[in-house]
Amino acid sequence: MSTRLPGGIPDFIEKWNPALFHQVGYGLGAASMASLGILANDMLHPALPATIIGFTAIYWKVGTDDLKQTNHTLRNNFPFLCHMRYLFESIRPEIQQYLIESDADATPFSRSMRSTIYQRSKAQSDTRALGTMRDVYEEGYEWGAHSMFPADHHDVKTRVKVGNKLNGCLQPYSASIFNISAMSYGALSGPAVTALNKGAERGGFYHNTGEGGISKFHLNGGDIVWNVGTGYFACGKTVDGKRFFDEEMFKENSAKHAVKMIEIKLSQGAKPAHGGILPANKITQEISDARGLGPGPWTEDCASPPYHSAFSTPKQLCEFILKLRTLSGGKPIGFKLCIGQPKELASLFHAMIDTDIYPDFITIDGSEGGTGAAPPEFQDSMGMPMAEGLRLADNMLKGAGIRNRLKLIAAGKVYNGFSLVRTMANGADLCNAARAFMFSLGCIQALKCNANTCPTGITTQNKNLSSGLNVSNKSVRVSNFHAATVLSASEIVAAMGHTNPRHVTGEDLWKRENGIHVSTYSDMHSKYLPVMDGGELLEEGMPKVQKKMKGWWEEGKVIYDSMN
Ligand SMILES: Cc1cc2nc3c(=O)[nH]c(=O)nc-3n(C[C@H](O)[C@H](O)[C@H](O)COP(=O)(O)O)c2cc1C
Repeated sequence: MSTRLPGGIPDFIEKWNPALFHQVGYGLGAASMASLGILANDMLHPALPATIIGFTAIYWKVGTDDLKQTNHTLRNNFPFLCHMRYLFESIRPEIQQYLIESDADATPFSRSMRSTIYQRSKAQSDTRALGTMRDVYEEGYEWGAHSMFPADHHDVKTRVKVGNKLNGCLQPYSASIFNISAMSYGALSGPAVTALNKGAERGGFYHNTGEGGISKFHLNGGDIVWNVGTGYFACGKTVDGKRFFDEEMFKENSAKHAVKMIEIKLSQGAKPAHGGILPANKITQEISDARGLGPGPWTEDCASPPYHSAFSTPKQLCEFILKLRTLSGGKPIGFKLCIGQPKELASLFHAMIDTDIYPDFITIDGSEGGTGAAPPEFQDSMGMPMAEGLRLADNMLKGAGIRNRLKLIAAGKVYNGFSLVRTMANGADLCNAARAFMFSLGCIQALKCNANTCPTGITTQNKNLSSGLNVSNKSVRVSNFHAATVLSASEIVAAMGHTNPRHVTGEDLWKRENGIHVSTYSDMHSKYLPVMDGGELLEEGMPKVQKKMKGWWEEGKVIYDSMN
């Protein structure tokens, strides 16, 4: 059935063609002449003929240019009129966001997720009236099981020690359970980085630098985790166009008081095994200084390779960890990855056991993670989502008997108390969030991070835009958001009857798997992955359900051996 009105606007547009364009143009020409005639008789305000004549001139200029060009069929077939389409297309996201989308709509973060963050950042009331808006009977609905004997939320532990003496760590760090995930200066503006850093200082949590090196904006009082990517920014040199790790530079920068931990970035969920991209139009002199890119103009994207030049096997990664630990004077060293092949993860654990070199933490990033710029196929279809990656790593570490050697950090759309608790129940010791903290800075999800035109000044190097970001105001919002989220998580943990978020288990969380079936997380997960307690992978003869995990474990050993 046609939804079009006969002779209505869609039909008019479809019938538009070059001949009609000319006829309308002649009509406009005649109207211009007539308006001049009427003006001569003093019957019209001079603005009207001027408008008609001006519009006619633009109409002819635009339309004839359309007919002359050969790149766009639409412009050839629908001269002048086609620009209406381009206009509406360019404002489609705004129309969608302001007029069409409901609270539950919008991706990657729905309006209701963002509202929670905005309200908490501004320390506004975040209670709601009249009950949940969610359909608690829809597939995928999740809930936490409270206790009849709740604990006091003031007693809930919200800090975690990262850095194990057994690993040789000499400067362990007491981290909050919720922190700012890696976002580089370059992806973010200077004022945005400064506001995050000052917010981290106010709230007593850490701020991950992202892979663009340590800039002056990161040194505003907040604790930082230095994200060392494949470009080795602030710890590398370029030789024959390739980036190499520089020990002296690393030693000097890692000694900075603000640097509390070092995170080697293997991959990131939004673009696993792809390498970083900073679009050329975002590179400024200050960014070039922080990254060592040399003098401008910068006509090419600053792309860091997908692989590290400092290591290429699991054993070499362990040796690199040891090197960084020694050079940094024993600061906690870890690595970040989005999980791809479970057997490769197993090969890393084999290397740790064999070399007796352990990282102090592993950060698991989910494929749902964010980025400043990445190819859509990598964002949409590569890498393991955070929940599965985290459970796999947690269980494999337990099965290998080495879970106690390190902490697991997780990132992937953690934005409120429940998502924080759920992630910890899935195996994380602490969490990071990137985009949620961008929202606390005032990000409106304009999706322009890669275009240097971010209207809120957060992901642009255009000073006209970034100077509008009020650092002192936003840094308060960053710490407000952090405090409210940790409080919410503590209240949930206490409601479940615990005083340590790590004691929340899959038995405390439920999910509606389909229309009639609900399961605890433990039951649901044990169907797909064995839940390990300690050392099972090292034992002979595993129960059948653990065959898959054992298979990965054994394949991991083959990979590890073949690379030595
Ligand atoms: C603008 C932006 C820049 C990012 N830059 C980096 C980076 O430099 N290094 C890195 O390891 N991850 C980077 N990430 C990934 C985040 O640190 C994080 O792992 C991911 O977005 C998942 O967290 P989220 O869901 O809370 O955003 C970036 C993310 C965003 C949104």
